[in-house]
Amino acid sequence: MCGIVGYIGKRQAYPVLVKGLHRLEYRGYDSAGVALISESGSLNVYKSQGKVSDLEDTAQNRDLTGCIGIAHTRWATHGEPGFLNAHPHLSQSGRLAIVHNGIIENYAALREMLLDHGYTFRSETDTEVVVQLIEYLQEKDGLPFVDSVQRALQMVEGSYAVAVLDIRRPDTIVAARKGSPLVVGAGDDEFFLGSDASPIVGYTDRVIYLDDEDMVVLRQGTDITLMSIRGERKTPQIRRVTMDVSQLEKGGYDHFMLKEICEQPQSLRSCLQSVRQTLTGPDAEHVFSLLEQADRVIITACGTSWHAGLVAKYAIERMARVPVEVDYASEFRYRQPVINPGDVVIAVSQSGETADTLAAIGMARKQGAKVLSVCNVIGSSIPRSSDVVVYTMAGPEIGVASTKAFTAQAATLTMLAIVWGHRRGTVSGQDYDSLMSEMDTLPELVGRVLDRKDDVRAMAQTLSFAPSCLYIGRGCNYPVALEGALKLKEISYIHAEGYPAAEMKHGPIALISQDMPVVTVATESAIYDKLVSNVQEIRARQGRVMAVVTEGDTEVARMADRCVAVPQVTECLSPILNIVPLQLLSYYVACLKGCDVDQPRNLAKSVTVE
Ligand code: F6R
Repeated sequence: MCGIVGYIGKRQAYPVLVKGLHRLEYRGYDSAGVALISESGSLNVYKSQGKVSDLEDTAQNRDLTGCIGIAHTRWATHGEPGFLNAHPHLSQSGRLAIVHNGIIENYAALREMLLDHGYTFRSETDTEVVVQLIEYLQEKDGLPFVDSVQRALQMVEGSYAVAVLDIRRPDTIVAARKGSPLVVGAGDDEFFLGSDASPIVGYTDRVIYLDDEDMVVLRQGTDITLMSIRGERKTPQIRRVTMDVSQLEKGGYDHFMLKEICEQPQSLRSCLQSVRQTLTGPDAEHVFSLLEQADRVIITACGTSWHAGLVAKYAIERMARVPVEVDYASEFRYRQPVINPGDVVIAVSQSGETADTLAAIGMARKQGAKVLSVCNVIGSSIPRSSDVVVYTMAGPEIGVASTKAFTAQAATLTMLAIVWGHRRGTVSGQDYDSLMSEMDTLPELVGRVLDRKDDVRAMAQTLSFAPSCLYIGRGCNYPVALEGALKLKEISYIHAEGYPAAEMKHGPIALISQDMPVVTVATESAIYDKLVSNVQEIRARQGRVMAVVTEGDTEVARMADRCVAVPQVTECLSPILNIVPLQLLSYYVACLKGCDVDQPRNLAKSVTVE
């Protein structure tokens, strides 16, 4: 939700900022803007409704000089996504500029106070209040730049990552975070800011992940000054970031989503290698000393990660024989859940920044639960707020619709269930060996599924005309049905619902008609026969069936209008293969409908506000 970039150094700032915005555009694309202190000393602000490319058009032929600047790409929270609400926002006098990611909760009270002091507001945003407050503190109390930002941040409530410029200090950027991420890149005599490391890699691999309530002063030609917003000095911890820049590019594909679907053989290979090392190597004791205290596991997450958590419930209960509850983080954090000393919370998140998941684990830890996070982005907030982390190592995911992160999460949690079961004696040595070697074959098998693109394209033709659609599955493929439906609705805007197949008779079967295709996950399982009956019930009502079946299947294949076959695997591993055709299906449907696949309307990838 909103991306922030900053630069101060010897280069021209504008190209660095715009390139950074393109990399952060997955975080929001309602509007974009940039503020530069030019070579002549003026503060130039350019902004535009829409995407970063629209900003580039707006800024063409303007004064883009200057070696210091801040920039923003927005996902609207306060105020509609128009030009007036686009960041950067200026103070009353035009001397200060700010970019902000987060929500200022007490903005109404601060706005009232500033209105009483003669300040006027141009936008409907909470952000403008912060920059006006900084100016007010400078004028009222004569505070210098850094102190005025610090004092203002002590007064605001809510979440923020901010970067501020002051025309009177053209050698300084002040930035801070609380609840929203911010990373500093430290080059040679130059500094970068980003909501994640992606705008920074390619310039330097030395980064500092700011902690909550950290404030940083970046001065041209000097070192970084790091302090808390209360003014306590801190020593910056510089880390090396290893990110392959090519992973941030489309690499010849039309969309990041297709690229990320197609790179799943590689992302899974990297995930499985790393997770096996974490769960069976020297660090395994960190993970299992925590898990082995568990009488119950509570998995908390949002969206696609929640679906991966549901896959994990089936795997952990089946293999480790430990009870598992799966809860939406947004519900868990507010419903006063009963948390017992023997509970372990597993937080699942691709970005590691989802506000509800972060708050849910904070709440659980306060109540004495231990937290293990399963996360893709190294150094992000959720792992840093957890007792133990298992990284999924799927590589950067840019497409707003999560794909390779899901298969990596499902693989990670399934492997965790297998290893945990083996340690508890609920998975035999023989089953352990065979499941672990079968997991190693998954990357290649996913590659085989990807070869079935033509079958999926044929299904997509049918679905693209449907006003609505049902997805059904059973057992560990019920979460796959949910995830398939989510993928379709988020990028093609076709209404879709996922159901456990046997629930159809309890209501949804009333919807069945020629106009309501049913996508069925019907691969081999212990209850395949039951699923065959469910499909028959749909056929008997003239429903159209699109099915994912196991290679060699004849029964469902005979009844279905269209099929895509996937290789046979042990049931608990099947979600990792079965989701792949459903990812492709949503992609092709969205393309047929002419939708903006990588930037679907109203969405942003990283939901850092609740
Ligand atoms: C859907 C999607 C979202 C995310 C959700 C959680 O394709 O990407 O539903 O899964 O916002 O995000 P993370 O996993 O970053 O916590």
